[in-house]
Amino acid sequence: MERTVTFTVNGQSRTVTTDPERPLLDVLREDLHLTGTKYGCGEGSCRACTVLLNGKSVPSCLTSVGDAGNQTVVTIEGLANGEKLHPLQEAFLSAGASQCGYCTSGMIMGAAGLLKEKANPSEAEIVARMQKHICRCGSYPRILQAIRTGISKGAS
Ligand code: FES
Ligand code: FES
Repeated sequence: MERTVTFTVNGQSRTVTTDPERPLLDVLREDLHLTGTKYGCGEGSCRACTVLLNGKSVPSCLTSVGDAGNQTVVTIEGLANGEKLHPLQEAFLSAGASQCGYCTSGMIMGAAGLLKEKANPSEAEIVARMQKHICRCGSYPRILQAIRTGISKGAS
């Protein structure tokens, strides 16, 4: 049964009337047209769909929109500060850390979630956190380099 769900997305209050069991990913992409968040597997195995929910990185394919009700969601579209890209975005660009780019927003949001938990994670902590993020192009060395650079440039 449909229900009205209100939540904050990228700083704006949004309301949708929908089945509360629908994946947040579908609502972001189809209803709110925030297509930077990608559908990869739909079952929690690739993390292409990662967003921040109350500052914590989560796979939006496994999060129901009902669970996001009255919560705060940030997608890749909301990470920049106006015209100024987030340091992780800058670092991914300058490192050339994407080929097809399909995994990129999920990678950046996953790293952003890690930095919200720990400002200066160790190499082992970065690798452990990013382990669940799949890059089908195999750009892992550049992705890790970009995350390290983003941290050194003040990403938080
Ligand atoms: S689409 Fe969500 S983890 Fe793959
Ligand atoms: S750059 Fe293609 S999936 Fe990662």
